[in-house]
Order: sequence, then C-alpha cells, then structure tokens
Amino acid sequence: MHDILFTNLRLYPSTPGAETGAADALAVTDGRISALDAGAPARRRIDLGGRLVLPGFIDCHTHAVYAGNRAHEHAMRTAGASYKEIAEAGGGIFNTVQAVRKASLEQLVDGALPRLLTLLGEGVTRVEIKSGYGLDTESELKMLHAIGRLRQLTPQHLTATFLGAHSVPPGRDKSDYLNEVIDVMLPAVVSEGLADAVDIFVESIAFDGQDLQRLFAAAGGAGLKLRAHVGQLSDMHGVQTAVAAGALSCDHLEYLDESAVRAMARSGTVAVLLPGAFYMLRETRKPPVEQFRTHGVRMAVATDLNPGSSPIVSLLAVMHMSAVLFGLRPEEVVHGVTRHAAAALGLDDGAGTLAVGAPADFSIWNIADVDLFSYQMGGLGPDAVLIGGRRVSGVLEGATT
Ligand code: NIG
Ligand code: FE
Repeated sequence: MHDILFTNLRLYPSTPGAETGAADALAVTDGRISALDAGAPARRRIDLGGRLVLPGFIDCHTHAVYAGNRAHEHAMRTAGASYKEIAEAGGGIFNTVQAVRKASLEQLVDGALPRLLTLLGEGVTRVEIKSGYGLDTESELKMLHAIGRLRQLTPQHLTATFLGAHSVPPGRDKSDYLNEVIDVMLPAVVSEGLADAVDIFVESIAFDGQDLQRLFAAAGGAGLKLRAHVGQLSDMHGVQTAVAAGALSCDHLEYLDESAVRAMARSGTVAVLLPGAFYMLRETRKPPVEQFRTHGVRMAVATDLNPGSSPIVSLLAVMHMSAVLFGLRPEEVVHGVTRHAAAALGLDDGAGTLAVGAPADFSIWNIADVDLFSYQMGGLGPDAVLIGGRRVSGVLEGATT
C-alpha cells in the first residue's frame, strides 16, 4: 500500500529516454517515489488534472550566503570597467569578504533565507551553497555554519561546498594562505562535517593548477567531492588539471580548448554552465556547447547566485539564458537543472529524476510542455512544489483526494 497516488498527470521524463506522458501516475511512500502505475493501491489519491510533473530543480552552483551587495561595482562595469580590473583594485570578492566578516551568523542566515525561498517558489528543491567570502578560518566556518542553520529553516536539501580557495585575501602571501586553507580550515571543515565538497577558483586573479592539485589531494583524501571554477576569464588549462585530479564538475567553462572537452568526456566530469555570470559580465566567449554534445559531456545549468558576477535569484531566468545565450535545447535546459545538476553534485540516489526509488521531490506545472522555459521569460511558476512527498510551496488546488 503506497502513501499517496498522484493521478491524471504527465511526467517529464520519468526515466532516461522516456518521453513526456510515458506514465500517468506517481506514487509516494516514505518520501520516495514508490511506483509509476495508475493501478497502484494507495491510502490517498490526488488527481492533478492533467498537469505536468517535473523533478525538483537542483541549483548546483551558488554563493547564496553573503552580506551586502555590489551594485556600485556593477555600475562601474556598465561604465566600462572589467571584473578583473575591479578585483585588482581591491573590489570584487574582497568587497563581499569585508561585509561577511562583519556580519553575524544570524545576519548571514537572514540574508540568504529569502533567496532560497524565492528559488523554492520556482520549483528548486535542492541548492548547493559555497563558502568563500570569509577567507579566514573563523569566517569560512561561520559561512558553513550558516548553511547548517539554513537547513533547519528551509525544506530544501542544501549541499555545502568549502570554497576557502576562492581568492587570496589582500596582504596575504598565496602559498601561506593556501597552507591555512589546507592545514587549518580543511581539517576543521572535515571534522565538523560542514561540507560535502571542496571548490577552488582557478584564474589569474586567484589560484593556479598546482594550487588545485594540492587542495584536491588533501580534500579528496579527506573524502570530500572535488569541483572547480575554471575557464571563466582565461584559459589556464585548469580543466585538464582539475579532471586529472578527480573533479566531479568543472564550472564556468568559457575559455578551454577541445582537448579539455575530451578530457572531461573521458572522466565523466560534468560541465556546469553559468549563463548568469556570462550575461552580467557581458562576456562574449561562450562555452563550447557543440563540443560538449559531440563528445558526450553532460551539461548542467546553475544560477551562480552571488553578489558580484551573478546577482540573479532565479533559476528560471538562468535556464532561459542558457537557451537564448548558449543555445541549449529545451530538453537540455531541463536536464541541466535536474539529472545533470544531480551528477555535478555526485548524487546517485535518483535525485533529479522521477524514477522509482528517487526522492519524491517534484513540482507541478500547468503548462503544455517544457519548451516554454526556453521561450517565455517571467510569468512562469509551478502550482505546487513537493519535497519528500510533502507540499512545501503553492497549492494542489483543483486536486481531488
Ligand atoms: O562564480 N568566479 C568566482 N566566483 C564567483 C564570483 C564571486 C564574486 O564575484 O563575488 C563566480 O562567478
Ligand atoms: Fe561561482
């Protein structure tokens, strides 16, 4: 006997390769999808009136915990300054670092919660959040503790990523700072169980491939998943280094060559595309989407929500950008925020799919098809969002039980 049976619905897609409408019912038991069978016996039945059911969206790359904003820097960029020039003049990430160091844990939580709930209203049931605006041991741990507190305040699944290697703090020597990241911060993060993954920004204004190798060796040895910001502003061959060192995902990926794409394909590394940063920084060099297709690299799409390069609290907006700016096809856009985003996070429990056994995280839409996400900007949203089979946003109005 299943807990609930949702009937009269269209699934998008239920299992890899399945088409919309392949099943017309979805049963939930103990928070997981327990059957895709209209005849399944259940204690409760809910008629969804023919609406479309999608896996909960996964925003697999955010910096959603931060303080302050950098609207004035954006105005400077609009007037012609580049992201790199602003960073080199002491602004950029350091600007937010100062605000985060001053903020209390509660202030960080209060700032981030509305962002997460806004994403929830769009059907985002799982969010990855990085540290990286503390850049000292105390403040990095404060950010990760804030993510822990947020878990108690939102029904979403939150994944924490330790990004102590986001930038070298002003006045610090790079290798001296990286020693602190590896020898002091990382052991604390691991012993307190504060993060699932580690990340590093490989760029001329941040860290290089050797730094990545040192960090990944230590973090991988401690059981953390490995991810990297690479190829955002220049090609430092960070992709090849990250892949060789075991990266689960490479993120940004505007500056890389085809041998890097081949290396990603061989290792199954996920390409996380961040069109919000591309759009905000008015970049012109796009990720090599056609090469990713040719070589079979999975593409995820994420907001990169942060106060500098992507102050965009909307995965739907970023999905639209991935279609219009990068040329992703409607089904690639949806896979980018569901199963491929799950792969970028190293989830193997069916998250991001509607397969039997997967978490019962899904959203219900009164739309004909998912091509609308690539076409219409604004005015779209799910009627209801469910996590673990429980309604956490919207209403199941019209449903008969
Ligand atoms: O993913 N590239 C580095 N990190 C962020 C930007 C952080 C910031 O500007 O505050 C990114 O774009
Ligand atoms: Fe980022």
